[in-house]
Amino acid sequence: MERRGTSAHPILVTKPAFPQLPGPGKATAPGTEPLPSEWFRPEALLATLFPAMAYPEIRTEFSRVPSPCYVMEEARLRANLELLRSVMDQTGVKIICALKGFSFWRAFPLVREYLPGATASSLNEALLAHHEMGGEVHVYAPVYGEDEFGQILDLAGHLSFNSFSQWERFRDRTLAHPGKPSPGIRVNPEYSQVETDLYNPCAPFSRLGVIASQFRDDLLDGIEGLHVHALCEQGSDAFEGLLGAFEERFGRYLARMKWVNFGGGHHITREDYDIPRLVRLLKEFKARHPHLEVILEPGEAVGWRTGELVATVLDVVKNGMDIALLDVSVSAHMPDCLEMPYRPDIQGAGEPGTKPHTYRLGGGTCLAGDVLGDYSFDAPLEAGSRIILMDMIHYTMVKTSFFNGVRHPDIATWKEDGSLQVHRRFTYEQFREKLG
Ligand SMILES: Cc1ncc(COP(=O)(O)O)c(C=O)c1O
Repeated sequence: MERRGTSAHPILVTKPAFPQLPGPGKATAPGTEPLPSEWFRPEALLATLFPAMAYPEIRTEFSRVPSPCYVMEEARLRANLELLRSVMDQTGVKIICALKGFSFWRAFPLVREYLPGATASSLNEALLAHHEMGGEVHVYAPVYGEDEFGQILDLAGHLSFNSFSQWERFRDRTLAHPGKPSPGIRVNPEYSQVETDLYNPCAPFSRLGVIASQFRDDLLDGIEGLHVHALCEQGSDAFEGLLGAFEERFGRYLARMKWVNFGGGHHITREDYDIPRLVRLLKEFKARHPHLEVILEPGEAVGWRTGELVATVLDVVKNGMDIALLDVSVSAHMPDCLEMPYRPDIQGAGEPGTKPHTYRLGGGTCLAGDVLGDYSFDAPLEAGSRIILMDMIHYTMVKTSFFNGVRHPDIATWKEDGSLQVHRRFTYEQFREKLG
């Protein structure tokens, strides 16, 4: 692990990195107890390891920010947006913001200065795109339910279906709709360089998109676009591979299409991303298919390294090692750290044992595994110490609320007299309020 000072705030620069929870029997730091075997999660070894990169300069004065708090820094968001716009300017492709990755809607007016719209994966996100972002609303969800589809139709300009059965089910309503949303079908190129199945849309038995052997040429009437999403935090080399597989399997249908959407996972704003290669690939694709509108819909690249989660130590206890309890929870506020799992960087902290004071950091819930990991610090932690968790404004923050905007289940009681009492149906407003 390497430190690169970008300003007065020296930042640890690996993310994601291998989680710090080591194998059974290995001590976490000199002098600490071995961890029990159930902590060993071999899938952690599959986590992508990025090369060390400088974090952009942080101007936020964390001492003025309440705790806990997700705090987004406008200047860093603007820098990302400038870069995305330069790709649009150089290539003529359209880049829209995937709300599943970045739905910090208080910043949407700034986003709209640069990007023409958003892509939504649910009715809630489509409403957020329409009301808070404005501009184009694209929608793709793996499955549409009857009760929400009518409203989605009213909002969508481009509407992608995940299967031909969904297309057959909703085709007539879509084509008859006065708003004339442009229908598309998501395809699965059966090609991906994503190593972690949790994030691999082309993993075996994936439910996401139609594979070539299941493609229904005979049902294409009315379909105007192809949608393909197979990348996750990847460079333009992976995009080149995806393009090849996509054109090989589905290229023959492109003459009949008006648009193609190359999904998200393009890590365009990452420091080492090869922008000239992306520009070349997009220009070449456009030259091969000049009639097509080409769309990219990154989410993470919009919010990448634009903000932090500010937390505070509330207590320090001892059980074989020093353990600090925070006013945030990994399970409730950083679920991706447990899912992936990945280890977020903490400002000024190092790997366990590399600085004088090593702590296990845990959340304030009762879940035994609500643990962020082991970190070391220059000075001892105590109640009131600030912990700045880096790069928390894209998926982490979004997953904290209603991920993908999927409808939250109602809350009801089946009463002893045989009646049903529905206490709560969650609304779009409640979804929106969790995000801003
Ligand atoms: C269909 C689709 N589009 C876009 C995205 C955004 O991807 P990212 O935030 O990695 O750019 C995703 C992410 O899962 C997706 O599933």
